[in-house]
Amino acid sequence: MIIVQLIFFTYFCSKLYFIMVRIKICKDIPEDSSVVLLATRESCFDNYGLSDDEASYVKAQIDAKSACISLNKNGRCFFVQTVDTTGDIDKEIEKIRCNAFKLHQNVTQQKIKSLAIVDTADFPDFLCAFAEGMALSNYQFLKYTGKKEEKKFSLRELTIVGNVDQTAIDRLNVAIEAVYKTRDLVNEPGSIMTSARLAAEFEAMGKEAGLDVQVFDKTAIEEMKMGGLLAVNRGSVEFPTFTVLEWKPAEAKNERPIILVGKGLTYDTGGNNLKTGDYMNDMKSDMAGGAAVAATVQAIAKAKIPLHVIALIPSTDNRISANAISPGDVITMYDGTTVEVANTDAEGRLILADALVFAKKYNPELVITMATLTGAASRAVGDKGIATMGKASQETMERLKKCGEYVRERIVEFPLWEEYGEELESDVADLKNIGSENAGMITAGKFLEHFTSYPFIHLDIAGVAFAKSANGYRGKGGTGVGVRLLLKFLYEK
Ligand code: BES
Ligand code: ZN
Ligand code: ZN
Repeated sequence: MIIVQLIFFTYFCSKLYFIMVRIKICKDIPEDSSVVLLATRESCFDNYGLSDDEASYVKAQIDAKSACISLNKNGRCFFVQTVDTTGDIDKEIEKIRCNAFKLHQNVTQQKIKSLAIVDTADFPDFLCAFAEGMALSNYQFLKYTGKKEEKKFSLRELTIVGNVDQTAIDRLNVAIEAVYKTRDLVNEPGSIMTSARLAAEFEAMGKEAGLDVQVFDKTAIEEMKMGGLLAVNRGSVEFPTFTVLEWKPAEAKNERPIILVGKGLTYDTGGNNLKTGDYMNDMKSDMAGGAAVAATVQAIAKAKIPLHVIALIPSTDNRISANAISPGDVITMYDGTTVEVANTDAEGRLILADALVFAKKYNPELVITMATLTGAASRAVGDKGIATMGKASQETMERLKKCGEYVRERIVEFPLWEEYGEELESDVADLKNIGSENAGMITAGKFLEHFTSYPFIHLDIAGVAFAKSANGYRGKGGTGVGVRLLLKFLYEK
């Protein structure tokens, strides 16, 4: 099999255009840092450099239920963030992340460079959530803008002072870095982030973390007869790629791998079923699933998690040209299934199906697809959640749901009833690639299911992968959704 080495592109890769604030643990508050005290009504403020008057002021504000209190002491800011330990923990943790985002705006206005987050109440999870919200809010994509220095956020150092386990912080840092990387890949314009470039980025990420990387080029993809990926690529001047990133530590706990399959569609014009109006805007983000699964596997390796995990990312753009597939064409997929292409804009499922067939050779324990697959998913849950379908065990699905609640990348399960499959029956081929106009995220899921023979969960992130307008700590543009969900799920396995 021919494996292309994209050495040329490696030069451009892994250049970080953001400043990632790495969270450190410290015993004492650094002298020049501004401070956030995480506090409950029971907290005592004797040890944090506040005068008696200031401490009583803070106490009074907490009693009056002020969410955030700030004091300025000799050029250093003191903020007090109240936390409530009595209600729903997942909700409180999200509130803390959101409050961290609000405070980040304050930190930026005050040009604060160094911030210490202090736990006065001994709630390490709250401390981590605050640090997470703060670090994720500090992301910027300034690569193509002028006046970078002026625009750059001020925050450079984030210290936490409290009883937190170093491993938890290492994992948190790795997760934040993975979200940043995903956002960077998604925010890059489609004309730059071609399938070759995307594969080169993955290759560089793999090398950095000690992953086994294979990038299949067009010739190799043709040899394998991945008909779905090749069909979508027919309208493109770029060649397709198929990337395999594997983390297989000797001490892996799972006998059979967990495989993450991500849609790496670098730009989706819709092809001959050309997208109209505003629908083509932001379609550079159609590789968000691919970016998220690659960053996840890289993070798992960096955190040295003892799990055998593989990412598969088929990649191409979807465009019009004389050579592009047209509605009515019949193509033959990697496993020999024939598909009537009833709509060239339903291309994601065609490239993912080949990857799902490829996954079979690993005899996986579980396969999760992550894809900006349908506008229907976005219409169903908006930008609040991930439309999910699956045929994994109830226990696995429930665990993933719980992880989603915790990281606030919530998943909503839709059924894969067999009646939906009837909508994919074709007069001329084994399957067609679209169903009726209703429940489009489910018929897309049914299409994928056809190519699976193992426990499988599908995550449709079309509504959440890209934020048109500012969206709290999730940012504007690529959100990096899916990374924190998968990491939580895998860290705890
Ligand atoms: N990439 C799109 C889905 C999408 C829509 C992602 C909005 C992000 C935001 C996908 O390839 C697509 O075009 N799907 C079609 C399928 C239809 C033709 C059955 C859709 O949802 O309109
Ligand atoms: Zn499409
Ligand atoms: Zn698409």
